[in-house]
Formats: sequence, structure tokens, C-alpha cells
Amino acid sequence: MKREMIVILDFGGQYKQLIARRVRACRVYCEIRPCTTPLEELRALAPRGVILTGGPNSVYAADAPACDPGLFSLGVPILGICYGAQLMAHMLGGRVVSAQTSEYGHAKLCIDRPDAALFQRMPRETSCWMSHRDQIAAVPPGFCVTAHTPACPVAAMEDEKRGFYALQFHPEVLHTPEGADMLRRFVREVCGCGETWVMDSYIEEQVAALRARVGSGRVLLALSGGVDSSVAAALLSKAIGRQLICVFVDHGLMRKGEADRVKATFGPGGGFDLTFRPVDARERFFAALSGVTDPERKRRIIGEQFIRVFEAEARALGQIDFLAQGTIYPDVVESGTGSAGAVIKSHHNVGGLPKNLSFSGLIEPLRPLFKDEVRDLGRKLGLPETLVRRQPFPGPGLAVRIVGEVTPDKVRLVQETDAIFQEELRRFDVDTGSGQFFAALSNLRSVGVMGDGRTYDYAVVLRAVQTDDFMTATAARLPYELLDSAMNRIINEVSGVNRVLYDLTSKPPATIELE
Ligand code: XMP
Repeated sequence: MKREMIVILDFGGQYKQLIARRVRACRVYCEIRPCTTPLEELRALAPRGVILTGGPNSVYAADAPACDPGLFSLGVPILGICYGAQLMAHMLGGRVVSAQTSEYGHAKLCIDRPDAALFQRMPRETSCWMSHRDQIAAVPPGFCVTAHTPACPVAAMEDEKRGFYALQFHPEVLHTPEGADMLRRFVREVCGCGETWVMDSYIEEQVAALRARVGSGRVLLALSGGVDSSVAAALLSKAIGRQLICVFVDHGLMRKGEADRVKATFGPGGGFDLTFRPVDARERFFAALSGVTDPERKRRIIGEQFIRVFEAEARALGQIDFLAQGTIYPDVVESGTGSAGAVIKSHHNVGGLPKNLSFSGLIEPLRPLFKDEVRDLGRKLGLPETLVRRQPFPGPGLAVRIVGEVTPDKVRLVQETDAIFQEELRRFDVDTGSGQFFAALSNLRSVGVMGDGRTYDYAVVLRAVQTDDFMTATAARLPYELLDSAMNRIINEVSGVNRVLYDLTSKPPATIELE
């Protein structure tokens, strides 16, 4: 049976992923497609409805993105948001004008038609988040205005007969309190989608599809211990058992106790039916990193070493048919934009893998999923909560949290400090799900006094940031008592550290990691 789906046509708006997540939260499957997707392709997807996203352009710009006009004859409901709303007005015979000033931020939303499909049972007055310059001045034939704001006469319009809806504001952001409900009404009531997107059926479908595709072949997966590769391992294990070979490269740069936890979860006795191949490559990584201080060189060395170790393992295993990766939907969407920019850091994922090995296919069982869905799936597959809720951790591990040369002793300092910081965060009940909280080691050594003696030891850095998207971040306002208590414990329990610093810098200008 084909799954009910909503197609989100991307006009370059920054909130497209947010729209998709809100639709998925209604348990309705959706996919983001470029606005240039040919009509035939869209028809073949057989969507129950289409959402047109916002975008930075004006419909009158020479290179303004548009969709195939045939979209409006597909016979399915369409919701235009921001630029999508203006485009709908423009293409269907309404009038869009450039306002004198742009409207940005909170606005009072006055609902003119309380019986409008998207606004039923909502307060007559609510608020919404605006971000536009152009606006609709005259609605196309067949439409009526359903809401306005003091600065925007057509904040919403609809043509219920044809199933066309448009919102000038952004229903997908939290600043529009009724927004999630408007989107829910669109996908559930207007498009008539049921709650068909649930993880239990995803597991069933994937297990059947993976079994059919893999047959009696063997699948190789680089297991890093992160959420994505762990959930991919759990799902593949359910489908193909010991035909799945998980190579876990211990580079010695994980957090305290983490390598052991990966082995306990996926190794013998861990409850997952798979072939587990741990590789102790710690000495090799430390040797390669010896004397290296440049952040980009450190990253490159770790990436290269990783691939070499992984390739050697793969060769020793003989015939392997498929390579599996824990790619998730944001990776797919982000790599699809192809935006060029300065290289701040060369990111490396345990999974961005070898070119010299030949596999007959690539398996990406998490490809359509958002991170919260991956976590949900992990829980359903029986992974421990500590793993499912694990904070993001960079591929090069603690090497990018140690400024300067990486040595086993410095790794120990960061591991011990970080473990204490995590314990204190738990003790103070800090919700670490909303950001990243960790310890790093500065390259600063300074004089201190302990007991009656002089010390000349390292300064550790506590870093705690709140972030939604990891592109920007602000320092978390942790309780002073927590910082004080963590500082005391670190100084007393971690030999080699005589100073504790708290990093207050936001991103930008700093990055989240120190290197
Ligand atoms: P920055 O330091 O660039 O980090 O502000 C943003 C987010 O990316 C993570 N990060 C990495 N993740 N491979 C990864 O898989 C990497 O090489 C890497 N470098 C940074 C970082 O932990 C944060 O979540």
C-alpha cells in the first residue's frame, strides 16, 4: 500500500525543515522537493496535498522561483506559506505589491472568517510571526480573505471550493501559537490524511524491505556509538541478524566509559543479534596525532586513519555486499542545497566512508527520518535511553576539544572533567536535550597553589550552549551553584587541572567546539 504523503515544495525558505517536522508531528509523512520538480514527478508521488514554502524572493524578481502552473490543476489541496502565498496569489490572478516597509516579528492576527477551514475553533484574535516585504493586495478570483493584521490586509486567504489556502505569516514557527494547529487542520481535515506515519509501521516496512533487498548478502556498518549509526544497527539487526557486521573503531577519543558502553550494548550479551567487530586502534591514532597542533590537520589525520582502519577490517572480512550508513533526512536536505561558503571546519562523520572498497549497494535505512524520529525508532527497537538521548558528539571526538597536541594524558583530563560536569548537570536537573554541554581542555597552563605547594597545570573549559540548529548558539545560563560545585570537584578529583573556566561566548563569533 502506498503511504499517504504531503509534498513540501521548497522555494528557498529557511523554515522548510520546520514545516516538514510539524507535518510529521501530525503523524503524516511528507517530503521536501525542489520547487522545480516536474509536474509528472509530482503526480507520480500521488500526494494528498502540497505545501509551498516561503522564500527570499519577490514574485516580480527576474529569477523568481515558480512552480509548474499545472500544479493548480492536480486536484489536491494546496497551502502557500509566505512567498508560497504570494506566488499562489500571483499565479492565480491576484495582485501582489511591495509594501513600503517590511513587516517582521510578532503581529496581531485578526481572524475574519472563524469558519475558515484552517481557523476553526480558534480565538478570533491571536498572534502570528511575520517576515515579509511584499504582500497580497488583491485576492485572486474565487478567494476570500480569512484573516488580517494591522499592517497586512491579506494575512490569510482561501478558496475552499478548489482547496487552495494561503498564509502570509509562518504557521511553522513557535511564535505563531496556533500555527501547529493550522497545519494540522490542513493535513488532517483538508487533505484528509490519517495517522499513518508511525514508527511501528516504519519498522515493519523497513524490515521487510531490507530482507528483500539484502537476501543472503552481508552488510557492513561503521558503528560510532552515536545515535544515528546505533539506531541503524538496531534496525538492520532486526532485519538481517548476523548478516550485519558492525565495525566499531575505538580511536581512544571518546568520552569516559563510552567505548565500553558501545561494546556492552552491541557486543556479545548486549541483546542485539549482529556480528560485532570492535577494533582497538587507540595506539595508532595517538601515534598519528603525536606532535600535531593544527586543528584542520588533526581533523584530516583522524578522518584518514579512520578510513584506513575501516578498509583493513572490511578487506579482512572477505565478500561484503552492501555498505550501510546512518544518513538522516536533514543530511539529505542540507546536501541538496549545494550552498557554497567558507570552510570553517572540515566536518567528518564516522560514516563518510571509503572510496576504495566496492559494494554492490548503499543502504541508508534512516534516510527519510528526522532526528527526533530516529530517537523514537531507537526506543522502539530497545536501545537504552542514555544512548537514544545522547548529545551530539563530533566524529573526531575529544581531539577537537583539546586545543593543541592530543596525548593520552590530555584525553584523560578531558574525560575525567567531562564526566564530573555531566554528573553535576544531572544532579542539578539541567535539561541537556536543548544543546550541547561538555568539557574541553585549553592549551593554557598556569600557576596555582594547592596545599602548600606550587602547581603549574592545565585550565579546563566548561562549555554549555543552548541551540536549536547548531548553526547558532548562546551560552547556557547555568546556575552558579552548579558551576561552583563542578569547579570544586574538578580541582579536587582531576589531577593535572588547577583552573576551571566557563566559556560565555555565543556562536557566532565562536564555534561550539573549540577546534
Ligand atoms: P561547531 O563547532 O562547528 O559545531 O560550531 C557544530 C556542531 O557540529 C558538531 N561537529 C561535528 N560533528 N563531525 C561531526 O559529526 C565533525 O567533524 C564535527 N565538528 C563539529 C559539533 O559537536 C556541534 O554539534
